[in-house]
Amino acid sequence: MKIAHLSDLHISGRKDHRQLEDLDRMFDCINRTGADHLVISGDLSDKANSGDWAIVKEKLEKHGLYHFEKTTVIAGNHDLINLEEEMRFYNALNPLPQLRKKTFNRKIGNFCRYFRELITGEDGASPLFPFVKIINYPSIKIAFTAFNSVYPWYPADNPLGARGVVDQEQLQAFTGESLLSTLRECFVIGLCHHAYKVYGTDSLIDQAFDWTMELKNREEFLDLMTILNARVVLHGHFHRFQSYKVKDVTFVNGGSFRCTPGEYSELVINGDGEFRQRFVMLD
Ligand SMILES: [Fe+2]
Ligand SMILES: [Fe+2]
Repeated sequence: MKIAHLSDLHISGRKDHRQLEDLDRMFDCINRTGADHLVISGDLSDKANSGDWAIVKEKLEKHGLYHFEKTTVIAGNHDLINLEEEMRFYNALNPLPQLRKKTFNRKIGNFCRYFRELITGEDGASPLFPFVKIINYPSIKIAFTAFNSVYPWYPADNPLGARGVVDQEQLQAFTGESLLSTLRECFVIGLCHHAYKVYGTDSLIDQAFDWTMELKNREEFLDLMTILNARVVLHGHFHRFQSYKVKDVTFVNGGSFRCTPGEYSELVINGDGEFRQRFVMLD
């Protein structure tokens, strides 16, 4: 089975016709190449605008991709945090951290409800992170385990809203033995927006800021991926097309559709669990 993986669309309204045409071209290509499933690993919107989610939903529907079996989306920091708004609100009211956390949780809920059909399918359960999607393909059973790694904006700890964390509630959601034994029968793929890898820059002045983009508890997340026997983790956030291996897990950074609309990642998984990943350029 074949998975197409895109990330960081950063859609910014309907006026950027070029970007919307690029999205049509991309979804067309994904259909033409016979991909069984599409993953979009966050930052669908550029400024946390649900109007941008609507654009993505419409385009997926237009190309017959808006189905539980066909597409999985997760949220990125740009879907949940509008930096200007956060700062304006903070400066004006200086709200309590608990209040901001509550507002943030509401935003996650909005995202999950908006893409409900892709998260719960038909079963009507309340859509929330983490979620598990198990899809039976003729050759193999695939389990997507999807996490929210977006961490709320805090003036000192997350000044750009770009730092990530997979919170304890999500990490502890995978303790049930029946779930673990179901996952053991599947090829498990982890999904989160943030990178395991800390992307450094060569410039010393920039290095001081590397932490503002990082996944704070990347080791805990890696440990969980190992327990779940995840073979691959698909992510985005740092706009670079790259794959890298940590222990037995292959991480794939799906780059940025916004910056490079003609490239995506393709993962092909065989019935015996062997897989290969490559980056594909549209023709
Ligand atoms: Fe991004
Ligand atoms: Fe991001």
